Amino acid sequence: MKKVTIINGPNLNLLGKREPEIYGGLTFESYFQSLTNKYPDLELSYFQSNIEGEIIDKLHEVGFDHDGIVLNAGAYTHTSIGIGDAVKAIKTAVIEVHISNVYAREEFRHHSYVSPNANGIIIGMGLIGYDLAIRSFLKN
Ligand code: DQA
Repeated sequence: MKKVTIINGPNLNLLGKREPEIYGGLTFESYFQSLTNKYPDLELSYFQSNIEGEIIDKLHEVGFDHDGIVLNAGAYTHTSIGIGDAVKAIKTAVIEVHISNVYAREEFRHHSYVSPNANGIIIGMGLIGYDLAIRSFLKN
């Protein structure tokens, strides 16, 4: 069974409540449930943290034996050299996901420390972006 982990960064625990006009009305827990139903042959796990170091620890933990990581580092995308370095340091392929189109938003969201080290990037597709990232790990 392939192992894929979704890692969500700060404030993404508030999906469903937070700026629904940007991020939609669904909680991530309910979306994650639909993903686990859709991919019964996948060992899919989910981790969320508002703490930079915990996200780095999780990348280290899963980054050498998993088949894929889907990472939405939230605002840390734009600020964290440490998370960017962790993505570079690990062996597992990382797909960077952003729910909103960060390039249509404030200038400070246009730079990512994750992107140069990611295997792929999915931006502005809503929650479906997580599904597309998972599909990229199933291609063979
Ligand atoms: C986000 C975009 C970031 O700029 C923002 O800080 C988030 C969410 C997205 O999924 O669109 O928290 O990563």
